Amino acid sequence: MAVEITATGSYVPERIVTNDDLAKIVDTSDEWIRSHTGIGARHIARDEQATSDLAYESAINVLRTVDPENPGNAAADIDLIVVSTASPDYPGFPSVACIVQDRIGAKNAAAMDLTAGCTGFIYALDTAGCMLACGGRKKALVIGADTLSRITDWTDRNTCVLFGDGAGAVMLESTDAPSSGPCKRGIIRSILGADGSGSEYLMLRRGGTREPFRKGEIIGTPAHIEMDGQAVYLFAVNTVVNTIQRLLEAENLRMDQIKRIIPHQANERIISAAAKRLGIGMDKFFLNIEKYANTSTASVPLALDELAREGSLKKGDIIMTIGFGAGLTYGGNLIVW
Ligand code: ACO
Repeated sequence: MAVEITATGSYVPERIVTNDDLAKIVDTSDEWIRSHTGIGARHIARDEQATSDLAYESAINVLRTVDPENPGNAAADIDLIVVSTASPDYPGFPSVACIVQDRIGAKNAAAMDLTAGCTGFIYALDTAGCMLACGGRKKALVIGADTLSRITDWTDRNTCVLFGDGAGAVMLESTDAPSSGPCKRGIIRSILGADGSGSEYLMLRRGGTREPFRKGEIIGTPAHIEMDGQAVYLFAVNTVVNTIQRLLEAENLRMDQIKRIIPHQANERIISAAAKRLGIGMDKFFLNIEKYANTSTASVPLALDELAREGSLKKGDIIMTIGFGAGLTYGGNLIVW
């Protein structure tokens, strides 16, 4: 029995904010943002949209792929919904997954959120995959969705140029394909890791139980991302390189057997530094950061959907997803498409 991705979907809000737009509100330029990050634009949610709205649209996109005539039937077949997010509708509960479960009519599904920063989708894929592999469940909808624009300090040029909003989703299914041997398919290995000693490098400090908002408090800026960019950058380059090497070694594979690596899209320079250290070309990596910026846990499934829809992934292709982010966390999935 294998656990395979059988459909993909994604959604980004319609509103596009270019680097030139940002240069009107903070002291920055298109030239600086492009040369330091590779970002050209980002999609930003409407005021009334929350993370569950983005997640819902990506889920509907998957269900229409599964059953274009009757997406509701496809929803009823789902046993489990896992949403990875670092920016849920509500701080704690109800989960985004429960809101999506209700809206799509997945009445037979268990539903839960998972938080692992920008590595969330990598964690969610492994979590859902293992829950399918232990039996009793056949289909899981795995979603990565974030609305970081809601927790961004729009007066801080160090962070506000980096992020965008979006959601990506996949249908994960246990199938009759082999999960070992030369014809194996699906998620064949995942590596997940964390280094909590770096938790202060990426933080949403206010609004939780450690530093709640107090009655009568006058809030200067809403709760927002605080980041030590250089510390995250170093962590990211090291973990991208190590995770790729460990996945190859664990499955006894060579780099030339990997069709494409789909990394978390935080900064093009992180990927080019990792590529240089690994001695491989940038064309091995799929990047769409220019259009979307860093969409956090949505970036990997957004990229997967784009690759799948343009027909770039063929049955039997070996691909890797690689993530890193708040926590600090990191990880990767090795997948035979
Ligand atoms: N426009 C113009 N100048 C800027 C901007 C901007 N938007 N932002 C910073 N600068 C300035 C700085 O003030 C600094 O000026 P100074 O030399 O006068 O002090 C100069 O540019 C250089 O700043 P650095 O921080 O050294 O810039 P660097 O080249 O390191 O790039 C960046 C900064 C892009 C943040 C980089 O460190 C990075 O990408 N780090 C990783 C961040 C990341 O990936 N975060 C997300 C993780 S995933 C998650 O879980 C959310």
